Amino acid sequence: MAPPRDLREWIALLEREGELQRVSAEVDPHLEVTEIVDRVVKAGGRALLFENPKSQHPLLINQFGTERRMCLAFDAESLDDVGRRLGEVLEMQPPQGLAEKVRGLKKLKSIADSQPKGIRGGPAQELVLQGDEVDLRRLPIQTCWPGDAAPFITLPAVITKDPRTGARNVGMYRLQVLDERTTAMHWQIHKDGRADYLMTDGKLEVAVALGLDPVTAYAASAPLPKHVDELMLAGFLRGEAVELVRAKTVDLEVPANAEIVLEGYIAEGELAEEGPFGDHTGYYTPPEPFPVFRVTAMTMRRGAIYPSIVVGKPPQEDAWLGKATERIFLPAIRMSVPELVDYDLPVAGAFHNCCIVSIRKRYPGHAQKVMHAIWGLGLLSLTKSVVVVDEWVDVHDYEEVFFRVGANVDPKRDVLISEGPLDHLDHAPTLQFYGGKLGIDATHKGPAEGAREWPPEIEMSEEIRRLVDERWHEYGLGEPGVADGRGQRPLRQLLRR
Ligand SMILES: Cc1cc2nc3c(=O)[nH]c(=O)nc-3n(C[C@H](O)[C@H](O)[C@H](O)COP(=O)(O)O)c2cc1C
Repeated sequence: MAPPRDLREWIALLEREGELQRVSAEVDPHLEVTEIVDRVVKAGGRALLFENPKSQHPLLINQFGTERRMCLAFDAESLDDVGRRLGEVLEMQPPQGLAEKVRGLKKLKSIADSQPKGIRGGPAQELVLQGDEVDLRRLPIQTCWPGDAAPFITLPAVITKDPRTGARNVGMYRLQVLDERTTAMHWQIHKDGRADYLMTDGKLEVAVALGLDPVTAYAASAPLPKHVDELMLAGFLRGEAVELVRAKTVDLEVPANAEIVLEGYIAEGELAEEGPFGDHTGYYTPPEPFPVFRVTAMTMRRGAIYPSIVVGKPPQEDAWLGKATERIFLPAIRMSVPELVDYDLPVAGAFHNCCIVSIRKRYPGHAQKVMHAIWGLGLLSLTKSVVVVDEWVDVHDYEEVFFRVGANVDPKRDVLISEGPLDHLDHAPTLQFYGGKLGIDATHKGPAEGAREWPPEIEMSEEIRRLVDERWHEYGLGEPGVADGRGQRPLRQLLRR
């Protein structure tokens, strides 16, 4: 099997796997869909295909809402497996011996085959609407939260070209509907689409693809360096190049498999108030001027399915898009920070608020070195707080991390307050975009870092553990770790509350 080739294959796969629920009842994209989806997402429920969302087009949502669906999207056992595949290519060494050479050639071929390829026509252009025929209100665009300024397109792949180099960028930037043929373009100040816009002298052509195969849709949200094409990443992860067709009214190529494509342009200096929007921070992003996107054409597949996502107070569906990035980019981060063993961006931390890192600590100040590395790496540089633990601590076990922070940290010695760029949406800092950073060094320390010798950590001996494992059934205590049947909550559960 390979990852689905388009949205319809993806929907069919989800349905076969019992991961999709069709909803035929009429629902309103204005708030009602959000309330339904919010409940389903939080319960770990299925993807929803609303067949009657008060619109001519069905609406797909919660396609990415669980780890299982995310793995199905990539046709992988785990998201770490997806990361490992990318890591193997990044870490390629000169091959030794014939077998390694053959393997190396296969890897090189997989990179060469990842380049998007142009084809002559595709389903994305079965229907072409231009000029006055364009009406965004044909689509079931959601107004997600009561304080939202308008309907927002929330799951787009926004395609632009760097006016100097011609290099393509694909980013997921929401679009607020302003009228039938215009939207605001919410690319934040640290994002590559905005960098293309700032290079523009006059007009920047833009295409927005909606309803893609899940890997390409994910790739639009991937934090790649500016010069790396997200569609190439998509091709690599799919094991098959993304096919592109020429747009009808702009000089751009668009995914041939898209359900819907909006083509148009942004004129330099034309801005509109964007927001408020109930954002993934859990707060409304206040109104702010953003560029205006004028739609010159809308192309579609027949019976086009409109994709959407709700963000809001975490956890929401975007949690798994973020977790995919966390896992897939681990090998790439290790290329720059080789002492990094693992990292975790807690969903409740809205991804940019907190990063827990485990490291192979070798020298005094090593944890601080890694904090600065995180604050210097791509979009991770926006991370507000970094917690560093030793290599033997499981960064995904928040109780374990909390224990290390409590037990190992002398706040006077181990807390680093720094400053730097912060996420565009962060409302906490005094200034927008810039403010404090917090580093917590929860690693073991010794005299070289001004600490006393620490007492040893408590651990049962291996011999006694084995003995009790072997004899457990003789004690008549039932399954280890399970409540004792007297209605008492096990300690671990108590910690978890
Ligand atoms: C569901 C979802 C919605 C997003 N909306 C926005 C947005 O409106 N504006 C923005 O700048 N980034 C948004 N992002 C984050 C960007 O897509 C992400 O930072 C991506 O790496 C940007 O691409 P770029 O690195 O090519 O700029 C969103 C991410 C997700 C998963």
